[in-house]
Amino acid sequence: MAQVVPLPTPEASPEERPVLVVDLGGQYSQLIARRVREARVYSELVGHRLSASEVAARNPAALILSGGPASVYAEGAPDLDTEIFDLGIPTLGICYGMQLMARDLGGIVERTGASEFGKAVLRASHGELLEGLPDELIVWMSHRDSVVAAPTGADVTASSPSTPIAVFEDRSRRLYGVQFHPEVVHTPHGQEILKNFLYEVAGAPPTWTPAAVIEEQVARIRATVGTERVLCALSGGVDSAVAALLVHKAVGDQLTCVFVDHGLLRENEAEQVVETFGGHFHVALVHVQAQKRFLTRLAGVSDPEDKRKIVGEEFIRVFEEEARKLGDVRFLVQGTLYSDVIESGGGEDGVAALIKSHHNVGGLPADMRMELVEPLRLLFKDEVRRVGEELGLPERMVWRQPFPGPGLAIRIIGDVTEERLAVLRRADAILLEEIRRADLYRELWQSFAVLPAIRSVGVQGDERTYAYPVVIRAVTSEDAMTADWARLPYDVLEAISSRVINEIPGVNRVVYDVSSKPPATIEWE
Ligand code: XMP
Repeated sequence: MAQVVPLPTPEASPEERPVLVVDLGGQYSQLIARRVREARVYSELVGHRLSASEVAARNPAALILSGGPASVYAEGAPDLDTEIFDLGIPTLGICYGMQLMARDLGGIVERTGASEFGKAVLRASHGELLEGLPDELIVWMSHRDSVVAAPTGADVTASSPSTPIAVFEDRSRRLYGVQFHPEVVHTPHGQEILKNFLYEVAGAPPTWTPAAVIEEQVARIRATVGTERVLCALSGGVDSAVAALLVHKAVGDQLTCVFVDHGLLRENEAEQVVETFGGHFHVALVHVQAQKRFLTRLAGVSDPEDKRKIVGEEFIRVFEEEARKLGDVRFLVQGTLYSDVIESGGGEDGVAALIKSHHNVGGLPADMRMELVEPLRLLFKDEVRRVGEELGLPERMVWRQPFPGPGLAIRIIGDVTEERLAVLRRADAILLEEIRRADLYRELWQSFAVLPAIRSVGVQGDERTYAYPVVIRAVTSEDAMTADWARLPYDVLEAISSRVINEIPGVNRVVYDVSSKPPATIEWE
């Protein structure tokens, strides 16, 4: 066996044995890791080039081999170090992962001509993975090749009409394979199958809870930070809020938060941040009132990219000034998420390369000589929210829809002025009130108002008006890469429209943006 090389992942807790999801290039690798975590078992995504000794060094509770686009016999198809199968680690292969196991463990994989894409019905006989489930199971398949002979020593425990070997189990070696995808919602009992594997086969207990995450991160932050001082930029968003609260829980008043109010926030947003952090959690908070500075620099600027650049640069300048005033601060908190870390892995190795530091995700000064504390580095967004709830962060902040860094500046087309900001802020507040009243806030990825730089004719009372329209934008999305316009009920649109027009002088028309992304973007600038 190769020499044992421990992976440079200081983040993984030694007490917490991870389930490693080996990414073989499938589109659902990340989803598998999330499903395992939903079963309250800690899991991490790793690249497939890990050697058996590297895997052993992580002491995983189990391995799950993902699907993949390739045929196991194709040239350059993602491979595994076959010694991994001799480590005695419970292993579940899914789709391509299953076929790889079959190929490497004495079975046979062939292109039978019986591809399956979509729903299939399994007939299950016996076995551990499908324990407690109906004999007939609907599953979701997506494969061209099939396993035609199971690995030596493995039993076939389920078949579908076109895939005679849909599940195999080698219970003595604890090696399992499923041709279908248990991780997708189209496999109705998928999560139970994963739980059978995790709890029963691998004996991995469901102990990974928000409370456990907090305890672990707090201990880790204390060990890293010691008695040094820590700085955190609060944006009002959930990531920086949860990161700050974790650090505060760990090192109390060694933490100072800086909240830069650039004057481009929504109604009451700054007050909420100050009240929550300063008032409620007693975090040392520097509230920088920089509204004038930003507005002065934005005066006469109408190009969207210029606006973004100005807000970004000015933010860094203000933040640096405040940091300098605080004197000797060694650490900087960043709300980097696991999805940022995975994405920064990139390259042909996918996540294999992810285990490197991911600096300045938040766009903070590159030359600031501070060490990073990233307490959310191993969490997905929904996990950050659950940790936030557990820490007592108000519901309004935990479930806040994403809001762009340049704020309202990129939702006002053309010049950003005090007057136009006031109009947009009020329209946005009315819109959000009505969306909340209709209980739609959490269903929507984002819902907001935009102020275009045009005017149109209207009539109010007996008077002809020539005033601004307000655009309503509401979208559903999974990740902001694509988005669909939300089918808001007409009565909600009507409530927003009549309130905006009646309550805001200078607005005489409300329009609804019915464009999806692509080809439109979510924001207007
Ligand atoms: P678009 O408009 O490109 O937006 O469809 C995708 C997502 O990104 C957010 N967004 C930003 N967030 N700084 C940010 O922090 C920015 O400059 C920025 N621009 C867009 C947007 O709100 C949406 O969620």
